[in-house]
Amino acid sequence: MAGARHIGKLVLTIPQEGEAEAVLPDGPLTVRKGAAYIVTGGLRGLGLATARWLARQGAGHLVLNGRTGPDGAVARTLGELTAAGTRISVVLGDIGRPDTAARLVSAATADGRTPLRGVVHCAMVLDDAVVATIRDDQLGRVWGPKATGAWRLHQATEGHRLDWFTVYSSMASLLGNPGQGAYAAANAWLDDFAAWRSARGLPTLAVNWGPWGETGVATGFADRGYRTLTTEEGLRALGVLLAHRRVRTGVLPGEPATWIPAAARHLSLFAPLTPGDGTPAATGGDDIRARLAALPAGPARRTALESYLAEHIRTVLRLSSSTLDPQTPLGSLGFDSLLAMELRVRLETGLNIKLASNFVWQHPTVAALAAGLAEHMGLELTPHQATSPATPG
Ligand SMILES: NC(=O)c1ccc[n+]([C@@H]2O[C@H](COP(=O)([O-])OP(=O)(O)OC[C@H]3O[C@@H](n4cnc5c(N)ncnc54)[C@H](OP(=O)(O)O)[C@@H]3O)[C@@H](O)[C@H]2O)c1
Repeated sequence: MAGARHIGKLVLTIPQEGEAEAVLPDGPLTVRKGAAYIVTGGLRGLGLATARWLARQGAGHLVLNGRTGPDGAVARTLGELTAAGTRISVVLGDIGRPDTAARLVSAATADGRTPLRGVVHCAMVLDDAVVATIRDDQLGRVWGPKATGAWRLHQATEGHRLDWFTVYSSMASLLGNPGQGAYAAANAWLDDFAAWRSARGLPTLAVNWGPWGETGVATGFADRGYRTLTTEEGLRALGVLLAHRRVRTGVLPGEPATWIPAAARHLSLFAPLTPGDGTPAATGGDDIRARLAALPAGPARRTALESYLAEHIRTVLRLSSSTLDPQTPLGSLGFDSLLAMELRVRLETGLNIKLASNFVWQHPTVAALAAGLAEHMGLELTPHQATSPATPG
């Protein structure tokens, strides 16, 4: 067809199934030798790791932004990058404020020779709260660096021929995460921002990262035994996504079922990732309550409630199977405030009840939770002692 030697029409049949070899598209290069790149949140965590990667790929000038200056260890890293031939400029300031993005662009292009070719937007602040209690100031703190910051960078880079603009989003906007409504919303905004810019011919990539285990704020996942992304894996993924000109992609470590909530696995987006997933449908509140009510007060009912709790706790901790001692403190299993909130929301949904926001912390073992829930639902766990017959006088 390309040779235009055919007569008449050509019919292309696209196979319904099969495999195709993916070939890396030719240029533009992911990172151009000698070009300038801006990294917000570039003085810590994933941003700093990305800055090192850009330097290794041949970036000539890195403009790194955060609100606070580099500490000793970071300053040493920046010194190493400089010694290896990459020019480093640190421009401090809140990226949500009107002038900061413009200062970053000025720093990147100050010499009039080095073209600005890419932006990596990593700045973020976490301020977790359940949607029902979230305050405007918390929303603003989370939204400012992520969403407003991205918009300021978009405006400040207008007129520059960027090869790409990358925003670090999170699996929170892909899968949700109890207690992180504001964070998920700000990342969802970034996801659509990437699509919106790309549709205007401005190549933009949003990566919905799962937890990185060696740097950044989510290393606690690795401590709790989750499979996390190594820095090398994350950066390799970044390079591939840029080379393939992806607009939006989730990069999650390990088994998808670890992260995709059971209730979402049937959705068309996720079903191919968890084929044959045997997760039973969530037990309706009435079912489990009816089951508990049908059991006699005493060990049988207590064990049923404790097993029900242990199942939820294992799901929240992403443990496939393990025996949970009812007396083990939840804190020692790695529970933090987000996981406690996730467990509470699960129990509220599963049992069709409303619990105090600190319910899990007030009942910090499986046994204590079982006792607290039983009381809340008006279920006796201990059989009534038969009252002794009156002694004849
Ligand atoms: N860590 C993970 O596994 C993970 C997973 C999913 C998504 N992500 C995303 O990856 C990005 C980086 O995460 P991280 O774990 O590396 O976070 P981090 O260690 O907390 O780094 C965030 C950076 O943003 C800067 N920052 C915060 N507010 C700012 C503002 N208003 N203006 C300019 N800089 C600001 C912080 O520096 P100052 O406080 O000095 O300003 C810090 O350098 C985030 O966008 C996050 O959502 C990370």
